[in-house]
Amino acid sequence: MIAAGRVAVNGHVITEQGLKADPLNDRIVVDGHPLRVSEKPDVVLLFHKPRLVMTTRDDPGGRRTVMDFLPRKWQNLHPVGRLDFDTSGVLLLTDDGELTHLLTHPSHGAEKVYEARVRGQVSPETVERLERGVRLDDGPTAPCRVKVLAQREKNALVQLTLREGRNRQVRRMLEAVGHAVNSLRRVSFAGVELEGLPAGEYRVLLGGEVKALRKRVEGKVKKISNATRPRSRPKPPKHRAEPKVETKATEAPEKRPAPRPKISSPPARRAAPRVERPALATRIEKKWKS
Ligand code: URA
Repeated sequence: MIAAGRVAVNGHVITEQGLKADPLNDRIVVDGHPLRVSEKPDVVLLFHKPRLVMTTRDDPGGRRTVMDFLPRKWQNLHPVGRLDFDTSGVLLLTDDGELTHLLTHPSHGAEKVYEARVRGQVSPETVERLERGVRLDDGPTAPCRVKVLAQREKNALVQLTLREGRNRQVRRMLEAVGHAVNSLRRVSFAGVELEGLPAGEYRVLLGGEVKALRKRVEGKVKKISNATRPRSRPKPPKHRAEPKVETKATEAPEKRPAPRPKISSPPARRAAPRVERPALATRIEKKWKS
């Protein structure tokens, strides 16, 4: 069809095979008829993973998974990356393989902010060691930012901002410098924060939020900003749902195509949870807030 001169892109008849066009952005006409494409928007959910939930689609051991917290219509989504069974906090789920790749591939270095309650007091020297990088059995860690948010007699609350995402990395880093982790929570992933979303609940990111998220992670690795917000607790969402899930993430796609056109995304909403929120998770949440 191209060789026969029957295809036009943005008003120009094209004859070159292999020319790249974006059916959402470019006007493609065949035999004078515009090409129709379905514009099913990609979905991104922000889920507040509670502790004691698997970041997997299934668990052979019968433990709850993040998928248990989502209604049937979102069962096609997959978790972006992974949080440990005993870690709570920000977990994204999507059906967008390319976005998953951007968020999880080390070359894009999406920023992740964690808050860890650790045993013992954390000294400035320890902060420095963590920031410079510590030796783990799978290699030294990259430089990161570390801040002691609160210091008590027997424990401390530490914020770590990483661009890596190795298995149990935060726990292993802290253990490597002599601090066992009592609890761990991810408060931000690529700039997406919980903003008052209760544990076990989720909301659909708005089209503009997804666009901004994509913008933050595409392109080159950036320096870790100092501006990771410590413990600010933004206003809660208008509507809340009940219990929800956690997940594990997957790596995904290949190359990065041209920026997408503006697409309409579904309205932000919290769906009704299908699982009861465990009393334990509630207690832990309260503890974090206190
Ligand atoms: N680092 C950890 O140790 N655990 C997580 O779940 C995430 C980061």
